[in-house]
Amino acid sequence: MKTTLAIIGGTGLTTLNGLEITRREVVNTPYGEPSGPLIYGQLCSREVVFLPRHGHSHTIPPHRVNYRANIWALHHIGVEKVMAVAAVGGIHPELMSRKIAIPDQIIDYTGARANTFFEDDLSHVVHVDFTTPYCEELRTILIQAAAKAEVSAMTYGVYGATQGPRLETAAEINRLARDGCDMVGMTGMPEAVLARELGLCYAACAVVANAAAGRGVGAITMAEIEANLESGMAEVRALLEQAIRLL
Ligand code: HPA
Repeated sequence: MKTTLAIIGGTGLTTLNGLEITRREVVNTPYGEPSGPLIYGQLCSREVVFLPRHGHSHTIPPHRVNYRANIWALHHIGVEKVMAVAAVGGIHPELMSRKIAIPDQIIDYTGARANTFFEDDLSHVVHVDFTTPYCEELRTILIQAAAKAEVSAMTYGVYGATQGPRLETAAEINRLARDGCDMVGMTGMPEAVLARELGLCYAACAVVANAAAGRGVGAITMAEIEANLESGMAEVRALLEQAIRLL
């Protein structure tokens, strides 16, 4: 049977508890190596393929992820829907208490990343529509799944994608807030646009790891990020399981 659903795991989700792994597949792509072998298995009795974005041992930083290889590999094996999990810093006041957000818009502040499949050997120039960057059908499922899992999620929000790997300055976060960003992360782009270019239905579940720079007390530490992600991931797992049941 074809595996049509993929989960891309972010920081804090390099393994998917409950996934009954059936096999692993190394996919070679025209864009180089994906973050690791694709992991096939069953989650809640459904065929799922899992790909940890930062590699199995969490060694690939956001600006070094081969987004094109990852998305190409998933498309190549027949995936149609992608649920992406990504750690973010919270900017919107609601994200000081809520742990999960399902963004509906993106602003791209990244640079120097391979961000399109449409650049070489083209028979014609392609401008993909990206008005609504996330797949509304899958976003609706994630929102319904959050309610079922009793996870208090913010059901909209603008994701500001920064280059990293450093965190932002307080002034940069103020600028992002003025631009309308509700959360900030380093992996949302070009992942979302590459999925759109290949016609995949892609939505994200953002997990708040910290208050964005200048929005909390003092400096942001890795210990704080890791502790918040650990508790947030329990909610993400519950949400993903419900989403799979709804699909
Ligand atoms: N900024 C950017 N990316 C992040 C953050 C942040 O504060 N927290 C987790 N990922």
